Amino acid sequence: MRRQRLCLRVKDYQAEWPIAGAPTALVRGFQPLYRTGFGSAYCTDSLPWLRAMPAESVDLVVTSPPYALEFKKEYGNVAKDKYVGWLKPFGVEIQRILKPQGSFVLNIGGSYNQGSPTRSLYHFKALVMLCEEVGFHLAQECFWYNPAKLPSPAEWVTVRRQRVKDSVEYIWWLAKQRFPKANNRKVLTEYSADMKRLLKRGYRPKQRPSGHVITAKFGSDHGGAIPPNLIERGNNESNSGYIRACANAGYKAHPARFPQAIPEFFIKLLTDEGDIVLDPFAGSNMTGATAESLERRWLAAEIKEGYLLASRVRFASLSLSKPTAA
Ligand SMILES: C[S@@+](CC[C@H](N)C(=O)[O-])C[C@H]1O[C@@H](n2cnc3c(N)ncnc32)[C@H](O)[C@@H]1O
Repeated sequence: MRRQRLCLRVKDYQAEWPIAGAPTALVRGFQPLYRTGFGSAYCTDSLPWLRAMPAESVDLVVTSPPYALEFKKEYGNVAKDKYVGWLKPFGVEIQRILKPQGSFVLNIGGSYNQGSPTRSLYHFKALVMLCEEVGFHLAQECFWYNPAKLPSPAEWVTVRRQRVKDSVEYIWWLAKQRFPKANNRKVLTEYSADMKRLLKRGYRPKQRPSGHVITAKFGSDHGGAIPPNLIERGNNESNSGYIRACANAGYKAHPARFPQAIPEFFIKLLTDEGDIVLDPFAGSNMTGATAESLERRWLAAEIKEGYLLASRVRFASLSLSKPTAA
């Protein structure tokens, strides 16, 4: 009965959605700060914004919330011991608004304990809470390797030389149900030189020392290599155009952006053209801009107006002088 009512509600909304265009109808009672042909960006606390959305309406959430850092960013960071309690209501809403085959991709960095060269477990506790209390399934743990990361905290890494550089961030790929929509054929990478040679020469089936039997299929060309769960990218590469455009337009650039490669990988892997991608902690709206470039519809929320105004530089179609009203 409850399921029937949910379906009816979603159908009502679907009837109003345009096939293309910003999915503004999903967020009742909120005015976007700007919108494009594919998406809308809202300057708001994303919790009430998420609560205003209908259940089972979004295909993918890709986001990077403020981390529980010792060295605080200008937009504020939640304390480690409060983090799980702070994140949970967002997780509950994200679970509710995702379609049954939808995914929630959460980029979250680790952190040191105060005054000690030991690491906090807060991001693992967040993962356990999202799975055991909210009901997500861990589809895969992925990693962002950022070779451009600075060696920090200085005390333990460059002064006392007791720890090595921390260059990896976690990306928890969570699914609403056990079988989320996903297709790794959409994220194939170029074969290695060795593999190209092997494809040319042909492959003789054999048993590896590990015991795995590798069949002749291994030697067929499948159009590219299946990528690993590690995305290697500096966060300066795909953002330099954004930084230049912010400077030209007189805006301060966002201080903690992820590279385009992160949302791009998951949007390609987990959605189709026209699907809806949402970022509730949008910052410079890299997620929205990437979704748009891949012809997915998008919704973004950011609490700080300055960041969202600046994020307009990512969209060639937008005027920078005044926000485009809904
Ligand atoms: C790590 S940054 C996201 C950066 C983004 N991934 C990018 O590439 O630009 C986190 C953002 O969440 C915003 N934020 C924090 N609490 C929020 C809330 N309750 N609602 C909406 N945005 C929030 C912060 O202002 C900050 O810009």
